[in-house]
Amino acid sequence: KNIVVMISGNGSNLQAIIDATTSGYINGKIVAVISNKASAYGLERAKKANIPTFVFARKQFSDNLAMDSAIAEKIEQLNADLIVLAGYMKILTPEFTQRFTGKIINIHPSLLPKYAGLNTHQRAMDAGDTEHGMTIHFVNEEVDGGAIILQSKVPIYPDDELDDVIQRVYEQEHRCYPLVVEWFCSNRLYLKNGKAYLDEQQ
Ligand code: GRF
Repeated sequence: KNIVVMISGNGSNLQAIIDATTSGYINGKIVAVISNKASAYGLERAKKANIPTFVFARKQFSDNLAMDSAIAEKIEQLNADLIVLAGYMKILTPEFTQRFTGKIINIHPSLLPKYAGLNTHQRAMDAGDTEHGMTIHFVNEEVDGGAIILQSKVPIYPDDELDDVIQRVYEQEHRCYPLVVEWFCSNRLYLKNGKAYLDEQQ
């Protein structure tokens, strides 16, 4: 399958997926990395792996709709089967998400439906939660609201610093995202009537 990864920053999840395609763990090819930030470090990671990169900056477009439709056209040109949001920090228009229903997945650093949006780790700690984690879900027009595919939990200990929690969740993200991409690429994972399904391994 052809995979497009969309990023805005560091790209450590992108790196995990690059590594998993290189090793053959994922039966697919990253055909492009798209960023809305020219300074995203993830673009360097892509270049190092010889993956084409494209930057779509908001200021090049009159509005979000024009920007997303330019991205959508690029994705269609690339014959992408799967769009992987990996720290893409701009909310996609409903026109975009509906165009690719069942083909876009996102990773979010909380146990959704808890803590949609930003600063999830700090919010979980402030609330005194003893459990936190990450969620991978299909993307629909509702931000962080699409069908859940996989969640992984981590503990929060009383003496944790913010960075301990961030690292603990990252470990799960880097383990789980390649797994879910592989499920999709091997045709086991799909969205039907707004729900995520995983078929048994053949
Ligand atoms: C991750 O925590 C992901 O869950 C969230 O944005 C962060 C991206 O990190 N959506 P990275 O750019 O993959 O390192």
